[in-house]
Parts: sequence; C-alpha cells; structure tokens
Amino acid sequence: MQKFTIRRPDDWHLHLRDGAVLEGVVGDTSRHFARAIIMPNLVPPVVTTADAAAYRERIVKALPAGDRFQPLMTLYLTEHTDPDDVEEGKKSGLITAVKLYPAGATTNSHGGVRNMDKAMPVLERMAKIGLPLCVHGEVTSPDVDIFDREAVFIETVLDPLRQRLPELKVTMEHVTTSDGIDYIKSAKANLAGSITTHHLIINRNAILVGGIRPHYYCLPVAKRESHRLALRAAATSGDARFFLGTDSAPHVDPLKECACGCAGIYTSVNTMSCLAHVFEQEGALDKLEAFTSLNGPAWYGLPVNEDRITLIRRAESVAFPDKIETGAGAITVFDPMFPLHWDVESNH
Ligand code: DOR
Ligand code: ZN
Repeated sequence: MQKFTIRRPDDWHLHLRDGAVLEGVVGDTSRHFARAIIMPNLVPPVVTTADAAAYRERIVKALPAGDRFQPLMTLYLTEHTDPDDVEEGKKSGLITAVKLYPAGATTNSHGGVRNMDKAMPVLERMAKIGLPLCVHGEVTSPDVDIFDREAVFIETVLDPLRQRLPELKVTMEHVTTSDGIDYIKSAKANLAGSITTHHLIINRNAILVGGIRPHYYCLPVAKRESHRLALRAAATSGDARFFLGTDSAPHVDPLKECACGCAGIYTSVNTMSCLAHVFEQEGALDKLEAFTSLNGPAWYGLPVNEDRITLIRRAESVAFPDKIETGAGAITVFDPMFPLHWDVESNH
C-alpha cells in the first residue's frame, strides 16, 4: 500500500504543559489529531474542575488559528479529591477521566496517591457515574527494581483495586510489558490499555548502549525486547482494548541533558509517520485506524471523528526537525533511528 485514508486519529495520553512550552507544542498535536486526553501533572497540578476549566481555556487559546482540536481534560487524583467536584466535572462534560499517579512515580507526581484507601470515596463515585480512571501503573517503593515496577503494580495495586471495585473503568496507560498486555487481555470487562509510539520502537538498549541517551528516557522506562514485541503484537492486532496514547512529554533540552534528566519523550511531531512504519513492518497497515482512531473513542464512549487524514509512502525519506523551538527553549524530537517514509499527505 502506498497511500491510504483513515479517520482522524486521537491521542489518549498527552502532556501539553503550560505557558511558553504549551504554545510551542500544541500545534504539533493539533495538526493531525482531533482530540487528546490532557495529562494534569502541571505545577501545581490540575486537581479541581475549576483548575481543569481554566487549563482548557489556556490550551484553546494557544491553538494555531483554524485548528479545531478538542482537549479532553483530566483531574489529578489526590487523597483529598472531592467526589462531588469530580461528579460535577463529568456532568458538565468537561472531565473525561481522572488520573492516578502513585506518589513519586514520575514527573510532578509527589502530590499523587500514597494510600489507595484514602482515594476510595472518589473511586467509588467514579465507578457509580461511569468515569474512567487512567492509571500510571508503577509502584514506587525503593525495594522494587525499576524494570519490575509495572508487574508489581498490577499484582499489588491494580488487581486488588479491580477486585474491590469491578465496576470501575480503568485505563492502564503506557503499557510497557507483556505482563501488562496479558493482564489486560485476561480481564473480562472494564480494563483497556494505551500504548505509546516510542515503546513500540525502542527497547532499553536505546537508553543505555554506547552511552546514556537521555532523549530515550521516559517512565515507565522502556523494557527488554521481548516486551516490545508483545506491545507490537497487541497494538497491531486490532484488539479493541488497545489504543494509542503517545505520552508525548516535552521537556526543554537542558532539563533532559543533565546529571539528573527528566523522564519524557517528545513524539507529537512524527508520531503518525512512526506508527505507519511500525504497522507496515508488522504487515498490519489495515489495523492502524483501529489503533489510532476507533478503539479509543469506543472505550471512552465518544463518537469517532468524521474527518480523515491520508497517509502516503514517499520514495525519499521524510525530513522532520531534530528539535522544535519554543519560547522556553529547544525540545528534542524523538528519533526512531530509522528513516521515515510515511507522511501525512492531507488533512480533510
Ligand atoms: O516519561 C514520562 N514523562 N512519564 C510520565 O509518566 C510523565 C511524563 C512527564 O510528565 O514528563
Ligand atoms: Zn504521561
């Protein structure tokens, strides 16, 4: 196939930040994507419906003229989140999901949840009103190896939670292991998973072989090759429980290229080209639309997008910038380490 048209994609996990970074990055998503679930881990985090409404306005204001992108807002779950506020947020149509960050798991997660018991009143309300919980599925205890954080989370936090509240809809975000894939597949209902672009392309060698490469460092950290292969099989299978959440997470270069660099990979610029490459390699270009444009809306109970994009395979490789410039500084764009030939030809 040299050219094909799919429904416009959505990104079910995206970091847009705020201020000058937001202004610098939002156009890279709104160019190709109709909607995205916006992560709430700002400083300070988006914890109330009023915070989310104000943040949504800032995002809409930062959009390039003419883009009809729709930000889908989330709330950052804390041990003090008010169930009534969450319910109001859902009723008003503003809030699409609530995000669980185990405290200390990643960027700006220190205000997250330490004791799940304290979050139960909100989680029970969410189960009742049908509001999904998006989870950063990693434990943070220092005695757990960082490469095992996801598997231990499933066993010690997620499965007990789902047994306690089977009606709660849970999105396991940025699944990075075969354990995560198997767990999602084994669930009878109310569990789905998002997969990032970069975890379909890199394994942990990208970060560590031949020198430390901070632009391949993210959380959950990329795992060994067998896990990457499991992610690729799930993403390209067409299984409705798996969909795209890029977790595109911009940090300006000085915050990545230093002694204690931030976690996050910026993929918004070339995500569709990278994904078409991966799906082509797997002989599954016909499944790309399910992954990027159909499965996510079905899970979140939203209509699919009516407009479409056309992907074209170019003979020459497609040039993407190494970095984008923002008012806060340069941000390095994800380098898949192979030439990209797929391009988004038109938006219509
Ligand atoms: O790599 C990551 N970066 N993982 C996350 O969970 C958070 C994100 C960020 O906000 O930078
Ligand atoms: Zn994220």
